[in-house]
Amino acid sequence: MHVSIEEARRVLEDNAQAQVLRFWDRLNAAQRDGLLAQVATLDFAGIARMRRMLDDKDAAPALGELRPAPVTQLDPAGQREARRAGEQALRDGAVGAILVAGGQGTRLGFEGPKGAFPIGPISRCPLFAIHARKILALERKYGAAVPLYIMTSDSNDADTRAFFVRHAYFGLQPAHVHFFMQGMWPALTAEGQIILDRPDHIFMSPDGHGGTISALRAAGLIGDMQRRGLRMLFYFQVDNPLVDVADPVFLGFHASREAQISVKVCTKRDPEEKLGVVVVRDGRSAIVEYTELTHVQKHATLPDGRLQFRHGSVAIHVFSRDFLLGQSEAVLPLHLAHKKVPSCGDDGVPVTPTQPNAYKFEKFIFDVIPNAERALSLEFDRNEEFSPVKNSTGEDSPATVTRDMVRKFARWLEASDVTVPRQADGDPRYCIEIDPVYALTAEDLRAKVSRDLRITGDLLLQEAP
Ligand code: UD1
Repeated sequence: MHVSIEEARRVLEDNAQAQVLRFWDRLNAAQRDGLLAQVATLDFAGIARMRRMLDDKDAAPALGELRPAPVTQLDPAGQREARRAGEQALRDGAVGAILVAGGQGTRLGFEGPKGAFPIGPISRCPLFAIHARKILALERKYGAAVPLYIMTSDSNDADTRAFFVRHAYFGLQPAHVHFFMQGMWPALTAEGQIILDRPDHIFMSPDGHGGTISALRAAGLIGDMQRRGLRMLFYFQVDNPLVDVADPVFLGFHASREAQISVKVCTKRDPEEKLGVVVVRDGRSAIVEYTELTHVQKHATLPDGRLQFRHGSVAIHVFSRDFLLGQSEAVLPLHLAHKKVPSCGDDGVPVTPTQPNAYKFEKFIFDVIPNAERALSLEFDRNEEFSPVKNSTGEDSPATVTRDMVRKFARWLEASDVTVPRQADGDPRYCIEIDPVYALTAEDLRAKVSRDLRITGDLLLQEAP
């Protein structure tokens, strides 16, 4: 897309953003082309919504009346039945997976796509390897492709694609792996002005994973899902290596109850844990993000002492394909955050501020939930399936994530009657890692591993090459 300088000037003036061109006279031809190309991508309707939101930003968040959402716990018979339905869908080739990996991993402080972060306790393999090899294991187990749709953003798309090429797609067939880019948009000052981080460049950031569905559609990938006959899409985030990708129980639960979207939830560790919670608001199912719950809502308890809003969403969902298709043009609410954004002074020199100076806006995918006639929540055991890499130290850091992976693999080995040496504090004495292609589940491991296995040092179980 291209705009002329005349068109750019007109549209920027019409939208009260003429300052975008304030260094125009000093730019060379290449810089001018670059800036015009950026102006051509600006979504002025979206920017107008952002400005309206800024005007109201000091109003209390309009959360409406919230009640905790009903949550299902499946008993063993219910799990068996759901598993059968989910496994059939996998055998039918009716399941795909959407991996959102467009974020910037700011809290982790890792340069490059977060999926490239090394997390294997022994192998040091990256997050992407673990996810991709789970898909490969599913494809082998059920004899059908599980197409993988990976959302990137402008800031990591090329690096992500190159990473997959460099690692030969971790064994997956490239024809079944699609990358698509989410949208980017500008940040605004408190006065609603677009920010230049260089004289010839508008500061842009990802528009949030709420852009997933429209980006899938724009890339022709909802059509691809239709052509492949996919009925369900398993959605997950890049940061959680414990995720049970395309978990047949979850898929079967979703399919047999004819849900449009299903959400996996676990009990929050504490009131301040950074998880969105599942609620019913104005009679509709919804997730309210942790940043938008009030202190009182986070800490409210039931008479038995449990938290009222205790069921956190871990951003693992199943979508029905038709629901996804129907939501591709949904207008989702905006969420704003006050952030530090590099910006140019009048001298054109970029400065990184020490205090937040700008508002970034994001759309969240779970805001489609209120549009569903049938949205369900299923509880799962967080020790088995949830330990995300969010921070560089402390909770949800590489240290806690590898610890949780080792604990899980130790439990699996013990369930296979293998003795796992343990320390005085109960943790396994040695590092343990199991490649998903070697065993995707505890049952797979039991069918394969020898009970006579003696663990006398770090143990990496993987397929012989
Ligand atoms: C997220 C969820 C939260 C949930 C928690 C579970 C949001 C807004 N909140 O919180 O409800 O309880 O995970 O771990 O997601 N991403 C993109 N594009 C973007 C922004 C993010 O693809 O523009 C991806 C990231 O790559 C990552 C995921 O979304 O895979 C989550 O982003 P992050 O910002 O880390 O979310 P949290 O605040 O941890």
